[in-house]
Amino acid sequence: MSIKRSVIAGTGSFLPPQIVTNKDLEKKVDTSDEWIVQRTGITQRHIAGEDESTVTMATQAANKAIEASGYKPEDIDGIIVATTTPDNTFPSVAVQVQAALGVPPGVAFDLQAVCTGFVYALSVADSMIRSGACSRMLVIGAETMSRILDWDDRTTCVLFGDGAGAIVLEAQEGEGTVKDRGVISTHLYSDGRLKDLLYTDGGPGTTGKAGAIRMKGRDVFKNAVSLMNDIVGEVLDANDLNDSDIDWLVPHQANIRIIQATADKLSMPYEKVVMTVGKHGNTSAASIPLALDTAVKAGMIKKGDLLLFEALGGGLTWGAALARF
Ligand code: ACO
Repeated sequence: MSIKRSVIAGTGSFLPPQIVTNKDLEKKVDTSDEWIVQRTGITQRHIAGEDESTVTMATQAANKAIEASGYKPEDIDGIIVATTTPDNTFPSVAVQVQAALGVPPGVAFDLQAVCTGFVYALSVADSMIRSGACSRMLVIGAETMSRILDWDDRTTCVLFGDGAGAIVLEAQEGEGTVKDRGVISTHLYSDGRLKDLLYTDGGPGTTGKAGAIRMKGRDVFKNAVSLMNDIVGEVLDANDLNDSDIDWLVPHQANIRIIQATADKLSMPYEKVVMTVGKHGNTSAASIPLALDTAVKAGMIKKGDLLLFEALGGGLTWGAALARF
């Protein structure tokens, strides 16, 4: 049976050059390098400079993904940007990237599912490509988390970083099996009853300001471990696969302990898990495409490898996707 698949044709990413180390944070809040590394695995994060924003970082990452795909901006007919930190309440980051890159008129919009944003965007783009609405799309995760942090709150400010990652996703014919290249299955969830575990204390419709991140860290941690364990099992079952069929786990990069718990559930050696949280911190919707591009550029992920993406974030939202690179 011949079916349409959404194949990753190119990846790209951008990290702002300014690096803030744990030692730098020791000077701002009552914390220590040892505490941060032990609890999270994070040693440093990139923070946007004054002239950098979600739009500028998304544009750079998207430009590199287009270059890697061998296409030109005029070949793109859809853009989805997963972000919680848009430059403006409107217009969307996506239309600003479209204008900056010279992508012709077509579909362009933002999608907000916090740290799960990229998995949601991948799922929506895959549906649009398989339905024939678009044939070659940019799917971007981009965040300037530093602008919604309370830099006096040591329980949150040490965790996050800024950056952007992007992929070009294009329609190709497949045979309808897990051997096909492209997105094989996506699995999305949310549970608004858990909204108070992770939120911002403001927004355009209430305070008129973006607000700052507030979090019940321990509860988020517990939910993340158990929901990620469940969802990776669901992906394997849905596709009739065993743990050993997965070549690479490309998880949301929030905390090394959450990632290792998911890898343990899959009996995956840590060498098969892409880990960038140590150097990037938690870049929310940007973390998976940043990790993917890092692993592709390092020659780790190769054409034909079976990838498992998974993420959890505010909402709570969570999700996973299986794709052959
Ligand atoms: N430096 C030093 N001490 C700190 C810091 C800090 N930066 N932050 C908190 N502490 C203190 C607390 O005040 C507390 O002190 P107390 O015992 O005197 O009250 C102590 O450390 C332990 O605090 P806990 O919150 O219980 O520490 P925990 O082991 O749970 O680790 C952490 C906290 C790292 C936030 C963990 O819960 C976690 O990673 N949760 C997941 C949160 C997350 O990743 N959120 C991101 C968005 S969601 C996502 O992306 C998955």
